[in-house]
Parts: sequence; structure tokens; C-alpha cells
Amino acid sequence: MKMNRIVCVLAILHVISSHDPHAFVQTSLAASDYASALTKLLLYFEGQRSGKLPPNQRVKWRGDSALKDGSDVGIDLSGGYYDAGDNVKFGFPMAFTITMLSWSTLEFRAKLKAKGELGNTLNAIRWGTDYFIKAHSEPHVLYGQVGDGDSDHACWMRPEDMTTPRGSYRIDDQNPGSDLAAETAAAFAAASIAFGPSDQAYSAKLLVHAKQLFDFASNHQGLYQSSIPSAGGFYASSGFQDELVWAAAWLYHATDDKSYLDFLQNSGNSGGVKTQLSWDDKYVGAQVLVAKLLLGGKVASGVLYSYKNDAEQFICNCIQKGNNNVRKTPGGLLWFQEWNNLQYTGTAAFIAAVYAQYLTSKHASIQCPGGIVQPPDLAALVQSQADYILGANPKNVSYLVGYGTSFPQKIHHRGSSIVSTRNDQSPVSCKDGFQQWYNRDAPNPNLLVGAIVGGPDNQDGYNDDRSNYQSNEAATVNISPFVGVLASLA
Ligand SMILES: *[C@@H]1O[C@H](CO)[C@@H](O)[C@H](O)[C@H]1NC(C)=O
Repeated sequence: MKMNRIVCVLAILHVISSHDPHAFVQTSLAASDYASALTKLLLYFEGQRSGKLPPNQRVKWRGDSALKDGSDVGIDLSGGYYDAGDNVKFGFPMAFTITMLSWSTLEFRAKLKAKGELGNTLNAIRWGTDYFIKAHSEPHVLYGQVGDGDSDHACWMRPEDMTTPRGSYRIDDQNPGSDLAAETAAAFAAASIAFGPSDQAYSAKLLVHAKQLFDFASNHQGLYQSSIPSAGGFYASSGFQDELVWAAAWLYHATDDKSYLDFLQNSGNSGGVKTQLSWDDKYVGAQVLVAKLLLGGKVASGVLYSYKNDAEQFICNCIQKGNNNVRKTPGGLLWFQEWNNLQYTGTAAFIAAVYAQYLTSKHASIQCPGGIVQPPDLAALVQSQADYILGANPKNVSYLVGYGTSFPQKIHHRGSSIVSTRNDQSPVSCKDGFQQWYNRDAPNPNLLVGAIVGGPDNQDGYNDDRSNYQSNEAATVNISPFVGVLASLA
């Protein structure tokens, strides 16, 4: 704590004395308040809730919604999370969101607790896992989506009074989806570890679901969008081997059952050096989980070392000491792609944060092509990315809604941009939503605090424009890795 203050003071003195062109980085560094940013992130998940809201709901502009989800198939599928600025419940990215929230919790549990956010984080996980328990209605049946992207996107409606179709879509033995089933298995397994210390019974229940879904995923193989074509235009999976090894790695961490380790060893493919960790590609996550086992001395095997090597080469590329470095904007942001870039910055920073922790506990380092990387180097990368997102950037904009003095006011989000049902009960129709609210050149009436938008372009440029869903929409997958990132810094 004291060290940090001294560093900050020195940074400010340096700015005053040198007229450094990167002065904005250092002044804002001194100003970043990771703990308050973390608090905001956890509010975001309350803003995205579907279903009946609990009495302790803190985001008051939201109301109950989609209470009849699942009624078309005769089961209760209410609950869970809306994916982004729309009102579809896409199971594939939702499961990845819960896996990353759970991973954040188990790596940074003490810090979350110290900041008073452990309970909120576990509540955010449980809102997802309670839904997944309903969606996993039989050992080999999993509902992977409620609502439809095309018909939902054709309207601009609040979740509380939407009239768009709420069809329920599933996978089963005849219509498999190994990626969806395995990602949901990973979410259940990771969450079972997260709940272990506080709720043994719930933790054990989650693990049963994880094991059943892994069995389903590995024994009935296929891409889930073949079984749920409605997901294909929005969250098509590019393959399912990554989810299978990721789920196996989580199940091994959760159970110590050697059969999951055998699966990793026998898969014959550690994935290679990847360019990103995302809702579609989990290899980096699996590689890092295996590296943790190796660094911890829990396992030792030649095959498994290729996972660790792949993970470390990815990290080398992020820290600009690799053979294929990740691009950076002139302002220093890790840059992956135009559409929703910050989701990839977030997962990369998360990986650097957890790896720094593993290396520190083993007094280890990474030998990158460009030189040795030590834990403080990784911590500096994590901090630089968090600071950029919190406002230390050429635009002086915080990309976290509700944080700092300047942040996005017109995010691409139906609920945020339309008057709250608390203030106006009269229905907003499919078309009125566009005419009266979407096209309005005014700030959104409801702040979706904690949303991290897609972010700036590759030259640090950014306009606060509601119609630009590439840069001004937040998805649940953007936020969950940042819970770990900010907890690591707080
Ligand atoms: C950002 O803040 C710095 C330091 O206060 C200032 O020099 C710079 O002009 C600002 N940039 C923009 C785009 O507002």
C-alpha cells in the first residue's frame, strides 16, 4: 500500500518535471481506484439479470422479466443473464462468463473478500449456475438458448415488456453440441471449486452436473450450432476440442480424478500457440490450468509440458517478447480486433495476472524469445491495461460505465437506453423503441454501471455512438475476466 503511494507520488513528480508526452498515463495511474471499479463490475451482472429479481437487487432501474422462459417446452428456464445489449440468453458465452467469474474467484478469493466483494461475486456466479441447473434438465439434455437473435435484434425493447419470441433451444444425444456441453461442464466444475469453502452442498451439486455434461460432451460429439442453428449467426463455435480439454482441466482441478488428466494427456493436442482467449477459443485457458498443475508439482509429464509451453508463448506475445507479438495501439492497449476488442484485452490481462501469481509462488519465470519475464513484468502489463481501460488513454475516457469523470453515455443496450419501467409503465413497442429511444441523441436514461464496452479502435479513437455495436456494446464475457484483473490489482 505504502509502496504504491510512493510510486504514484514519484510518477506525478516525474510528470511535472519532464513534460513527458505520456503524462496522461502516469497521472491517471495515480488516480486509478481498482477497488471502486471492481465494485462497479459486480453491479453490471445485476443489470443483466433475467427472471424474477431478488429483494436484495441493487440495480433498481431493472424489473422482473422473461418469467415464462421455458414454458414452450414445459420447464422453467427463467433466470440467467441477457448476453449483451440485446435480450437473448445465449448459453455458450454465458457459460464462459461463469467459468471466468469462477476462475477469478478462486485465484483472487482473499482480495475479493478484503474488498467486500466476495459475496457479490459468488451471487453473480450463482445467478448463472442456478439457471444452468434448470437448463441441464436431464443428464444428456441441455438447453443452450432462450430467445432468437434475429427476431430480438429486429426490435428495440426493454426486457421487462418485450414481446419478441422466447423459444427454447436444446442439445441432446441425437442433436449434440460438445462445445456447449463442455463449456457448461467447465462452468459447473469451476463454480463448484468457487463454492467449496462456503457452501459444500451446492458445490457438490454443481460437480454432479459438471461430470454428467462432460460425459455427454465427450461421448456425443458435434458442433452445437448444428443442433441450435439459431445460435449460428451470433455465437458459432469454431470447434469443440478446446472446450473438451478446458472442461477436463477444470474437472481435474475440481476432483483430482486421474481420468480427466488422462483425457488431457491422450488428447494429443495442446492447441498450439493461440492468439487469444475468448468465448470461442479456450485453449489458452486449458494450457494455463495445466501449467498450474505442473508448476505446483502436482503432475509431471512430457505431453503436458506442451500445454505449459503454449501458454507461456501466448504470454510472451502479449508482453511483446514473443515471436508473434500482439499488436498494441499507440496508447498502449493490447489490440486484437475491431469488434469488441476489450473482451480479448481482458482475458489476456487475466491470464497475465494469474500466471504472475503462479510464478511468484514457485519463484519461477518465463524464458521468452525476447528475454526472461518475471512476475513484476506481468503485473506491470496487467496494470497498464487496466489503467488504460479506466481512463489512462489518449482519449481520457474510461471504458467502464460509471467510473471516472468521462465514460460512455450512449452504450448500445436496450434496457439502458429506454426509460425504466419504474418511471414509465406504458409499453414501448418494437418500433417505438427504435424511433423514440435508439435514435435519440441523448445519454441513456439508465446507467448500466460496470459495463465495459467494446472500446477504442487500433489508433485509440473512439466515439460515444449508440449505433456502433462494435465499440459501444458490452457483453457479459467482457466483464468476468476483469473481476479477476481488478481484484489482482485492488
Ligand atoms: C487528456 O488529458 C491530458 C492531461 O490532462 C491533456 O493534456 C490532453 O489534452 C487530454 N486529451 C484529450 C483528448 O482530452
